[in-house]
Amino acid sequence: MSKKKQKTPSESIAIMTELVLPNDTNTLNNLMGGRLLHWMDIASAIAAQKHSNRIVVTASVDNVSFSAPIRLGNVITLTAKVTRSFNSSMEVFIDVLAEDIPGGKKVSSNQAFYTFVAVDQGGSPIDVPEVVPETDEEKEMYAGALRRRQLRLVLAKKMKPEEATELKSIFINE
Ligand SMILES: CC(C)(COP(=O)(O)OP(=O)(O)OC[C@H]1O[C@@H](n2cnc3c(N)ncnc32)[C@H](O)[C@@H]1OP(=O)(O)O)[C@@H](O)C(=O)NCCC(=O)NCCS
Repeated sequence: MSKKKQKTPSESIAIMTELVLPNDTNTLNNLMGGRLLHWMDIASAIAAQKHSNRIVVTASVDNVSFSAPIRLGNVITLTAKVTRSFNSSMEVFIDVLAEDIPGGKKVSSNQAFYTFVAVDQGGSPIDVPEVVPETDEEKEMYAGALRRRQLRLVLAKKMKPEEATELKSIFINE
């Protein structure tokens, strides 16, 4: 059996910058949540493409909360990178920073995990390279990715709760 190709998380980093314009906002002049999710989807898909060199589709998005409004005129920086891959799927972590440049203020706005699946031209899942984490933060993300995968597959009814052993170990000491 041929050994899987290996890549580091930094090889997949995608950084995207957007200016919040009037057409991106609601009637309170705040960025609409759906627009932000769209930008997050694009930036994280680029990271997954860079890791896999394949067409990718969004399989799931973990919970995203909007803690503070992002204002018209803010500059948004989205930074995405692959934390871990399994067979055809990749978990991507995305961090969103909102910046009021004239006011000299930067706010950490959102963070989320996206899951992408690499597919062939016919849309069938296809294997992707392994992730080799380098920094302590990347190693922590890599380790946690298995539990997060089990949680999202249980919620999607694609895995039986009793099979989610790493996830169970957080709650139950056997
Ligand atoms: C994602 C998709 C390719 C998975 O296909 P599938 O036939 O369910 O394939 P499988 O069950 O063999 O799963 C393939 C991989 O997807 C992962 N997966 C499937 N559903 C998932 C979910 N809800 N969350 C996270 N990962 C999921 C599986 O864990 C598996 O990962 P692995 O290969 O790393 O082990 C398929 O469901 C699809 O095309 N969905 C639509 C994607 C799309 O259009 N996205 C845009 C939404 S608007």
